[in-house]
Amino acid sequence: MFSRINSFEEYQIEYKKSIETPEAFWAEKAEAFTWKKKWDKVLEWNFDEPNVKWFSGGKLNITENCLDRHLATRANQTAIIWEPNNPNEAVRKLTYKELHAEVCKFANVLKNNGATKGDRICIYMPMVPELAIAVLACARIGAIHSVVFGGFSFKSLSDRIHDADCNIVITADGGFRGAKDIQLKAVVDEALQTCPSVKKVVVLNRTNTNVQMINGRDVWWHEEMAKLSSDKAFCEAEEMDAEDMLFILYTSGSTGKPKGVVHTTAGYMVYVDYTFRNVFQYDSSPLGGEADVYWCTADVGWITGHSYLVYGPLLAGATTLMFEGIPTYPDAGRFWQVIDKHQVNIFYTAPTAIRSLEAAGLEFVAPYKLDSLKILGSVGEPINEEAWMWYHKNIGKEKCPIVDTWWQTETGGIMISPLAGITKTKPSYATLPLPGIQPVLLDENGKELLGNNVEGRLCMKFPWPSIIRTTYKNHDRCKEAYFSTFKGYYFTGDGCKRDEEGYYKITGRVDDVIKVSGHLLGTAEIENAINQHPDLVESAVVGFPHDIKGWGIYAYVICRHERKDTENFKKEIMATVTKFMGAIAKPDKIQIVSGLPKTRSGKIMRRILRKVAEGDLNNLGDTSTLLDPAVVEEIKKGALTDPIVA
Ligand code: WT7
Repeated sequence: MFSRINSFEEYQIEYKKSIETPEAFWAEKAEAFTWKKKWDKVLEWNFDEPNVKWFSGGKLNITENCLDRHLATRANQTAIIWEPNNPNEAVRKLTYKELHAEVCKFANVLKNNGATKGDRICIYMPMVPELAIAVLACARIGAIHSVVFGGFSFKSLSDRIHDADCNIVITADGGFRGAKDIQLKAVVDEALQTCPSVKKVVVLNRTNTNVQMINGRDVWWHEEMAKLSSDKAFCEAEEMDAEDMLFILYTSGSTGKPKGVVHTTAGYMVYVDYTFRNVFQYDSSPLGGEADVYWCTADVGWITGHSYLVYGPLLAGATTLMFEGIPTYPDAGRFWQVIDKHQVNIFYTAPTAIRSLEAAGLEFVAPYKLDSLKILGSVGEPINEEAWMWYHKNIGKEKCPIVDTWWQTETGGIMISPLAGITKTKPSYATLPLPGIQPVLLDENGKELLGNNVEGRLCMKFPWPSIIRTTYKNHDRCKEAYFSTFKGYYFTGDGCKRDEEGYYKITGRVDDVIKVSGHLLGTAEIENAINQHPDLVESAVVGFPHDIKGWGIYAYVICRHERKDTENFKKEIMATVTKFMGAIAKPDKIQIVSGLPKTRSGKIMRRILRKVAEGDLNNLGDTSTLLDPAVVEEIKKGALTDPIVA
């Protein structure tokens, strides 16, 4: 039975059960799914290697649970509503039956093009239904999908294809985002110049762009689909082990190289379904009636899109809306227009979007009723109190609970969050841990801070079903990044406060990554991209608070020789970052310096650079032990006159 928590008292009972008898708790949740064979053991784990296995010995296919399982009861219910970038283009709707048929058919296309179980397939696509179909088709045949966000450049793409050793890429000629056409196939072509592992590229025709098709390598999506007559279209779901890899998703870390976060099949399935239904209080029972319309605005290129646009909603038999465009096209009222148009009941977006739409002004909200909305969500970065109140008042009309959901690519699903309408909310607080989640706060020495009114580093002391299993082909890196800082704990990299009533508030990252518009970017990764400019010797990137983006990017750069045309130079640096990483990593400020503050051992003192970037010039601490203390004075002076605002 797929049960749902209905009251705060029930939440407390479930939470207690999940801590006292976690195996029985999760076994009961797992029972409700379709298994080819039930598991032998619910959980085996240690956080030292680390080694975590959920539902060992179980056999299943997640797509049977997302699709086939629903056919008896909701075949004609809409599974996906697709809203195009251009509001005048036709909406597309796929029922569960149609989605099932498309996934099966495309799974056969993949097989016909040489895909087999265990292969890694890279997906680099715009936000169209075929992206969800591609993801599910991979899972259907047991291929491991690695979705790369369409905003990443050729270098980021080729690095990810290399790392996962992909043999197939699924892409499109291009994509529409706002007023722009994104040339996806051209980027793939450039990336593949250094990726000999890729034997096939399947290309969807989305924009009718003239693209170069390489004979023997590139095939068109529609031509391959047309080769399959409908009686050949069914595709048996591959039998997968509970711990077989489902997908790899790259995320930034404190080194320049992104980490391939690995999620496996059964635990991920059980956890994203459970959290989706409970956090959003999704009612998936109204057979015959209209299902709630749920809209998550994240791109499938991020974990939010994986877990709460595709897998979670489909597992729960929901109607999930997918939007191709951006919040400000054709104007800053687009989100609100789409909500009215499709009568959206549950809306899940990012603080950065809320802040930018708030800045655009209420005249963009006024024309819309927004009366279909019941629940609002926030994800990806701390939501400040002001944005929370604006969202609550102007979008939720003070009647929709807001779920501020804290989680990570590595956690697979939501970890700390209110249950909509059940948990009392508090602006800027993610509130309480979900059942199965055991957060702890540690001080810098790894000592657990007990009781309330404490602040420290957020860690987890017990595994949950969708925890990261490894980083692809580099288990040491997984151990090093998440399980070594504090022995015996999973370390999130976030600072966190637990207030007097036990509520959690995330205070931000404590490592060398920054959250820019909700996107996690490694400062080292951005530096690598900046350093591709031939006139630069070295750079150092730090974050600074930014009104809309949450954090902005501040780059200190050292030139090889003087460039008098600073404006041009700035543009070149921007273009370099766009080319080697993607537009999301473009610096907001660039300051040209003659040196960087370094310790005698050559380590950059980022603390000082952060202070300067924040404009806090008088509290730099002791700088006398630096290799060259004079450089700090120069940087301070330059910060007041020189920084180039992009
Ligand atoms: C980091 C993870 C959550 C999935 C999408 C982002 C920050 C995320 C919140 C929140 C405060 C948040 C944390 C976290 N973060 N949600 N509700 N309140 N901070 O996944 O890219 O892996 O980023 O995003 O710093 O560690 P991600």
